[in-house]
Amino acid sequence: MHIDRRERVYLIGTIALLVIFMSAIAVSSFAYGIQLPQPLERVDPRTVATPPSPWGAPPEERLRELAPGKYEVHVLAQMWQFTPNTITVPKGSEVTFYVTSKDVQHGFKLSGTNINFMALPGQVSRLTATFDQPGTYNFICHEYCGALHHTMAGQLVVED
Ligand code: CUA
Repeated sequence: MHIDRRERVYLIGTIALLVIFMSAIAVSSFAYGIQLPQPLERVDPRTVATPPSPWGAPPEERLRELAPGKYEVHVLAQMWQFTPNTITVPKGSEVTFYVTSKDVQHGFKLSGTNINFMALPGQVSRLTATFDQPGTYNFICHEYCGALHHTMAGQLVVED
């Protein structure tokens, strides 16, 4: 089959680009652990903030240590706050975030990490990050959710 030389160049170039892009996805997901937020489960936004729901527990009990250095935290988004809005873990911790909303669509972006997803009423989003650097990591709502959207923020403190 005859393929024009220029067409062949474009075909090879296109295939090479596809290979490069697919490799970038593979490297970022396996070598750097970049993950997509998983819609984990459905919850009822009308009851999600009341016990025995883990998002109904007192703020100080939302962070649980499952094993040495491994934590999970249940963060509830609502107009216009996160609960808990301060999370403190020691350096080197691996933290899994379970985030949902009890009213409207919010966002959850934790600076300096790949944690970035929407917090939707009725749906639980989960992502995990490891914190090797001590410091303060701010998290913000980045989906417009009403008048005080800009005040909706919190902090994750990694202690040395
Ligand atoms: Cu919550 Cu913007």
